[in-house]
Amino acid sequence: MEKKIKKIKEEIIFKSNSVSNLKDIEKIKVEYLGRKGLVTLLLRRLGELSTQERPKIGQLLNQTKREIEELLKIKTIEIEKLEKNKKLKEESIDVTLPGKKSDRGTIHPINLVLKKTEEIFLSIGFKIEEGPEVELDYYNFEALNIPKDHPARDDQDSFYLNREILLRTHTSPVEIRVMEKQQPPVRIIATGKCYRRDAADSTHSPMFHQIEGLAVDKDITFGDLKGVLTVFVHRMFGEDRKVRFRPGYFPFTEPSAEVDVSCLLCHGKGCRSCGYSGWLEIMGAGMTDPAVFNMVGYDPEKYSGFAFGMGVERIAMLKYGINDIRLFFENDLRFLKQF
Ligand code: PHE
Repeated sequence: MEKKIKKIKEEIIFKSNSVSNLKDIEKIKVEYLGRKGLVTLLLRRLGELSTQERPKIGQLLNQTKREIEELLKIKTIEIEKLEKNKKLKEESIDVTLPGKKSDRGTIHPINLVLKKTEEIFLSIGFKIEEGPEVELDYYNFEALNIPKDHPARDDQDSFYLNREILLRTHTSPVEIRVMEKQQPPVRIIATGKCYRRDAADSTHSPMFHQIEGLAVDKDITFGDLKGVLTVFVHRMFGEDRKVRFRPGYFPFTEPSAEVDVSCLLCHGKGCRSCGYSGWLEIMGAGMTDPAVFNMVGYDPEKYSGFAFGMGVERIAMLKYGINDIRLFFENDLRFLKQF
C-alpha cells in the first residue's frame, strides 16, 4: 500500500507539471480524489488493513490527499493567472494606432448656392417665399400673360398631369401666388425645383432649380433692378464681376432683359468657356408687365415692379467650374466630396 501511495504521489507531480488548462486539473481531481478516485478507493480499503498498519497508512493517505489538493490549488491559480494575462493581451488597445475615420457629409453645391442666394437677398430686405411644384396651368402660364399658343406651353416642354395641372416649368408662378395674397410693397425671392421635358445632356436636366425674385412698390425702376442684381452678382461671384443687360423677351415682363456676367475665366477678354464673347448669360429679368398686375388686381398706374429668374445649376456650374449638369444629380461621392 505504501508503495502504491508513493507511486500516486510521483504520478500526480508528473501530471500536474504538464497541465495547461483548468479542464485538465478538473480531470486529475476526479481521477484521484473523486468518488471513484484512486486515493478515495484506497481510503475505503483502510478497513482491510491490520489494526497495526491502519493508523500509519491512514495518516499517509490523508496527508497525500491534502498534498494533492494543495498542488492542484496552486496549479489552478497559476493557470488562471496565465489565462487572464493572455486575455488582457488580446483585448489591449494600441492607442498609438491611427483611428478609423468616419465619413462626414458635405453640403450639395446646389444647396450651397441656394443658401448663399438667400443670405444675399435677406440682407437687402427680401423675404423668402415658396410655391408648389405641382402647379395649375393658370399660375404657370395664364396669369403670367403667356398666351395659349406660346411655345413655352408646348407639350414638348411641360409635364402635364392633366389639362389643368402640370409640374411647374419655372418659379415665376410663385410671383402670382404672392401678389394674390398680399398688397405692395413686395420684396420676395422664391427658390425650388422646376421641370421641363428636356432630354438630359451636359446643359439640360428634366429637373432643375430656379431662383425667382420679385419687387413691387411705388416708383420701382429698371435702375433698382440693375442695382439689386449687381449686388447679387458681386456677392455671389466676386466684386470684380461686371453685369450686362441685353434686350430680351418674356411675356410677363416689359421691357425684358437677359442678364450677363463677365466671364469668370478670362475676365471679359474672351475665351473658350464664354464662346470668345467675354460674357456668360445667367438669368432673365425685366419690369413686371402691366397685364400681370391686372391679373392679380394690382393697379399698374400706381405700382411698378421688377422680376428676375435664374437657373441654380447654371450659377453653380459657373461658380465652381462644373462642365456637366448631370453631375449634380448622379450622387457620385467623388464629385460631392469636393464641396
Ligand atoms: N421664368 C423665366 C424663365 O424660366 C425667367 C424670368 C423670371 C424672366 C422673371 C423674367 C422675370 O426663363
